[in-house]
Amino acid sequence: MAGLAFLALAAWWPGWRGGEQPLGQAVDPAAFVAETEAFATRHQAGQTVRPPPGAVPLLARRFEFWPPLALDPGESYRLRLMAQDSVHSVAVNGREMLLVPGHVQDIDVAPGDQLELRCNEYCGLGHNRMRLKLY
Ligand code: CUA
Repeated sequence: MAGLAFLALAAWWPGWRGGEQPLGQAVDPAAFVAETEAFATRHQAGQTVRPPPGAVPLLARRFEFWPPLALDPGESYRLRLMAQDSVHSVAVNGREMLLVPGHVQDIDVAPGDQLELRCNEYCGLGHNRMRLKLY
């Protein structure tokens, strides 16, 4: 029975096959935080950040996804998420991605997607508030 459970887990775990890193790409965490802060400053528009199409670095931390975004629903983006302080996660299109400091997970956003990021891993008293509307 343990063998069957293992096979079921292996089949389910995203990235188990194909050599993909389940935790995402390894990065220098301090450099990624600095890059995200610089990006947010560069594209700040009032209370939100309006990035051009393409890569958008984001931080997951108690209890927010930062920076707040206002994406253009007609454009494509690649959200690049790293946890800054402890383990969080995000569920997108039925796939759960664990977010840990030092690893970056990519989420591709296509025109017409209406995503809301939501933390899916209990991370403290503000866990239920930890969400971000992208538009
Ligand atoms: Cu972050 Cu729950």
